[in-house]
Amino acid sequence: MNEEIFKKTLEQLDTTMEPPIKEPNRQYYFIKKLIDLIDKKSKEKGRPLTYCVVTFGCQMNAKDSEKLAGILKTVGYKESKSEKADFVIYNTCTVRENANTKVYGRLGYLGNLKSKDPGMMIAVCGCMMQEKHVVEKINTSYRFVDIMFGTHNIYMLAELLYMRLTNPSKKPLTVIYDEADKIVEDLPSEFKYSFKAGVNIMYGCNNFCSYCIVPYVRGRERSRKACDIIREVEELASKGIVEIMLLGQNVNSYGNDLDDKITFAKLLREVSKVEGIRRIRFMTPHPKDLSDELIEEIAVNDKVCKHVHLPLQSGSSDILQKMNRRYTKEAYLELVRKIKERIPNVSITTDIIVGFPGETEEDFNETIDVVKKAGYTSAYTFQYSVRNGTPAAQMPNHISEDVISERFNRLLDTIHTSTDEVIKKLTGLTLPVLCEEYNDEKATITGRLDNSLLVHFEGGRELLGQIINVRLDEQKGFYFLGHAEL
Ligand code: SAH
Ligand code: SF4
Ligand code: F3S
Repeated sequence: MNEEIFKKTLEQLDTTMEPPIKEPNRQYYFIKKLIDLIDKKSKEKGRPLTYCVVTFGCQMNAKDSEKLAGILKTVGYKESKSEKADFVIYNTCTVRENANTKVYGRLGYLGNLKSKDPGMMIAVCGCMMQEKHVVEKINTSYRFVDIMFGTHNIYMLAELLYMRLTNPSKKPLTVIYDEADKIVEDLPSEFKYSFKAGVNIMYGCNNFCSYCIVPYVRGRERSRKACDIIREVEELASKGIVEIMLLGQNVNSYGNDLDDKITFAKLLREVSKVEGIRRIRFMTPHPKDLSDELIEEIAVNDKVCKHVHLPLQSGSSDILQKMNRRYTKEAYLELVRKIKERIPNVSITTDIIVGFPGETEEDFNETIDVVKKAGYTSAYTFQYSVRNGTPAAQMPNHISEDVISERFNRLLDTIHTSTDEVIKKLTGLTLPVLCEEYNDEKATITGRLDNSLLVHFEGGRELLGQIINVRLDEQKGFYFLGHAEL
């Protein structure tokens, strides 16, 4: 968002008139009204009002939370690190059942806080809100919630907050669209870090993997225009951001829905031309359509991290078919081979689900086999969780929890052995790292390698945000101890 244009537009908006229909001006109008209202409330309280946004789930949600925080800061709230705040937002995830359970547990705790401070406001948003049974449950069992809004309504926070503050009611104000009607650009956003940031390149997913709820709660694929993405990256670079992560559920299909045809590989090239940006990451490509053009771009583009997150999900071609992943074990391994051949020292990471309905011991052993052959740097593993409304929920032969958990442990062992071998090979090398965190007590820095692994080394706070060479002296499981070679 261009701050000057934003400020000018706010100045020109007449808040005594009806709100504009068009976005983002409609939200600007409510932002302007909120600035006065929050100022008044802060004066009444004798201190600034505080907010706390708690994020569950993936990078998409993390990015949405930054947008929510950006609006709250703009209207005058100060951030609170704890949930003892004037306005708490839970940005929820529903990819597995335990994500939902966590949110309900925490909501109970928030209810207690609110009973001691009735002026507190509570909003729940994000992926869980797109499910009718969740909304019903909150309406009946968590009546202290003030606002519920969905994944397609994130941009409306200013409007919803203003409505609630000026029209208190005993029922939650609920605004949940089933589908996104538009992409709203140019709203304020907050940044968790001053040197790295995520950038949405597309929203939603069209893949409908049979176990996955994401397409139902995030809607169909919508790509942002390349010019809007580049403009955002340029603005980030001008603020000192050096690393960006391009975000989408399936980045390979970026651009398919745009009038100006553009591939993800071309977008990477364009983004890498932005001065000041030194590292580019992306999440997530789908193995079924990862193009040679993209492999080539990763190989030749110095700014693109040599890291490919390539979700396997299962190593069994039968299970993959039932999962609607549209690749086979052999095609996946061939892709891994091709990537490694073209990009030496590339790091490949993955996601795996254990216990998909109908998974036999042989199927599971195929997964173990791929783990041994692929040479992952790290792997995220999940126990299959039934999501109502997805095709897999209706499939026969659901696997018992005992079997899932036994296989899960076996998989973890195999992963540890194989990632250990891959990571060990890096010991002794000197590699560039982005200095991400400063540890006060030990006066050490935590830096991130191109492949996403962490290394701890002695260094001062002034290194934060810099990319420097670090020698990886010693491997400690999933991370390294090292020293800076300045
Ligand atoms: N779009 C990304 C990530 C989606 S969600 C992709 O396609 O890889 C992140 C991970 O959660 C998935 O990769 C999958 O491994 C896991 N996951 C999704 N649905 C699940 C379910 N019902 N049970 C267990 N794990 C699941
Ligand atoms: Fe879910 Fe598959 Fe889409 Fe990933 S690609 S979000 S796993 S449906
Ligand atoms: Fe969860 Fe929604 Fe992400 S369901 S994994 S937060 S897209």
